[in-house]
Amino acid sequence: MKKAIYPGTFDPITLGHIDMVQRAVKGCTHLIVGVAKSTPKNVWFSTEERVELVQDALKHLDNVEVKVFEGLLVDFAQKENAGFIIRGVRAFSDFEYELQMALMNRKLAPEIETMFLMPAEEYSYISSSRVREITALGGDIGRYVTPATLQALKDKLISRHETKDTPRRSAAGG
Ligand code: COA
Repeated sequence: MKKAIYPGTFDPITLGHIDMVQRAVKGCTHLIVGVAKSTPKNVWFSTEERVELVQDALKHLDNVEVKVFEGLLVDFAQKENAGFIIRGVRAFSDFEYELQMALMNRKLAPEIETMFLMPAEEYSYISSSRVREITALGGDIGRYVTPATLQALKDKLISRHETKDTPRRSAAGG
């Protein structure tokens, strides 16, 4: 495998994603981690914040590059000259969605293959939204994210509370 893309929203990156990247780099010469800019998901982190956390979490890996993409994933893969899309299958429940996405991407760009990897069992039940939910409810998620991401989640929680608590000014400026 030569150049591959591991795409995602990464809101935020978790140890499960890092585990996937570490497995994927074993099989390719260059891996691009593609951070989706526009997403229907209700994200906590801006694109820049998500990229920064991904870069920090993967800085120990040589042949990994982090890039933002917008629009179709296959267009991004073609632009980057990547022949493979890497996706993780954590549980059977991921399979149907992943299969649909892989087959649709194949219809759109037959020359690009999707490859599935399985993350380590201890990360098979994590997702970014679970990590955000547990943070919001005051739970300890230190074993699922890097220290930098843990701090960013705590900071984001505070800033979200502050925004919610700030009374809106009236149109008259009151
Ligand atoms: N460890 C931890 N969490 C993992 C994981 C792993 N190994 N693998 C997946 N996840 C989590 C993700 O964090 C995400 O959690 P969330 O829903 O709580 O945010 C969830 O599992 C997977 O979500 P999914 O929507 O499948 O992926 P994504 O948000 O990471 O990325 C894109 C989706 C960006 C790849 C996809 O929407 C895309 O390709 N968009 C571009 C537009 C396009 O081409 N559309 C046509 C596709 S056919």
